[in-house]
Amino acid sequence: MSFRTLDEVDVAGRRVLLRADLNLPVHEGRITDRTRLERLTPTIDELAGNGARVIVCSHFGRPKGSRDAELSLAPVAKALGELLGRRVRFVEDCTGIAAQQAAELLADGDVLVLENTRFHSAEEKNDPEFARELARLAHLFVNDAFSSSHRAHASTEAVARLLPAYAGRLMQRELEALELALGSPERPVMAIVGGAKVSTKIELLGHLCTKVDALVIGGAMANTFLAAEGIGVGRSLQEADMHATARAILRQAAAAECPIMLPIDAVTATTLAPDAATRTVPIVAVPGDAMILDVGPASVEALIRRLGEMKTLVWNGPLGAFETPPFDAGTRAVALAVAAATQAGKLRSVAGGGDTVSALHQAGVADRLSYVSTAGGAFLEWMEGKTLPGVAVLTK
Ligand code: 3PG
Repeated sequence: MSFRTLDEVDVAGRRVLLRADLNLPVHEGRITDRTRLERLTPTIDELAGNGARVIVCSHFGRPKGSRDAELSLAPVAKALGELLGRRVRFVEDCTGIAAQQAAELLADGDVLVLENTRFHSAEEKNDPEFARELARLAHLFVNDAFSSSHRAHASTEAVARLLPAYAGRLMQRELEALELALGSPERPVMAIVGGAKVSTKIELLGHLCTKVDALVIGGAMANTFLAAEGIGVGRSLQEADMHATARAILRQAAAAECPIMLPIDAVTATTLAPDAATRTVPIVAVPGDAMILDVGPASVEALIRRLGEMKTLVWNGPLGAFETPPFDAGTRAVALAVAAATQAGKLRSVAGGGDTVSALHQAGVADRLSYVSTAGGAFLEWMEGKTLPGVAVLTK
């Protein structure tokens, strides 16, 4: 894949509309994780340092086309200013006279944040007139929001057709890392897919079977596969209506000669509660009144042994109920092994998705993989082999 980057443009004195992903996690009005902001700052520093007039736009939450004070980007603009160590202006709309005036008042090196693009319903409709209004603010468009690029919205797609459009440094890093993981990876490649539901990841599993050399399925999703194969899973979370789909995926994997690894043992309990009494059992001996809440040590050992043969790993989804210790043990052990192999130069590892990133942070290894994407839906769609509209529009 070949896309336009900041190496190809002189931004001095130009107004640059920078699509960022300022959709930060917030709890009770406070930003709980600034990773997305931290990753954005190199692009802004570079643009501003080279004399651009930077106009940042983004969505925030899902206000559904109307103003919602709780979803204003004003506090995020303030946090961005603190991180950048420079003054960041803010304007209370992303189009119209106020935005136009604010943009025109910028001097070289200034940074302006526009209000939430989703306060306008035209944004999510990829409306060409709304995109024209955004485009009118600037001379150039830079997209640094890989995590929003699965959305064909005015600020990610339509506007990129109206201005010379480039990938920002974060987008560039992300696309390069992903290309090395699934596009043209060093083989063998393993994918680990966890999480709760087969129904949300059917396309992903089907696609991965044709791409990777080993596919590990964990999390509650594995229970559906086990039950579909006639193994008793007690009171575990599973999707009874997905058994036929699970069997079809197993057949597809066999046809593609992609071995699927399911858990061979499990940590079970009768309640999902911190420090609940647990029983570790072979997968064929799950008590009828218990739930599978984590992969067991034999499964972890088998996975890590297989991982030792791999050159590349793509990971989406935890292997157990990692938010509730002790059911984080399986995910943690695998995370530590992945980090160690990566640091030893034996493995290229790419992980993404909200829960996966939380689990890696919890294990203290989020900065020891080759690349950890903060994208959720976009990472999943990329793993499914889909074309992301916000990326496609940047390709040469
Ligand atoms: C994300 O947080 O995954 C992106 O910002 C996309 O948000 P959305 O799912 O509301 O489009």
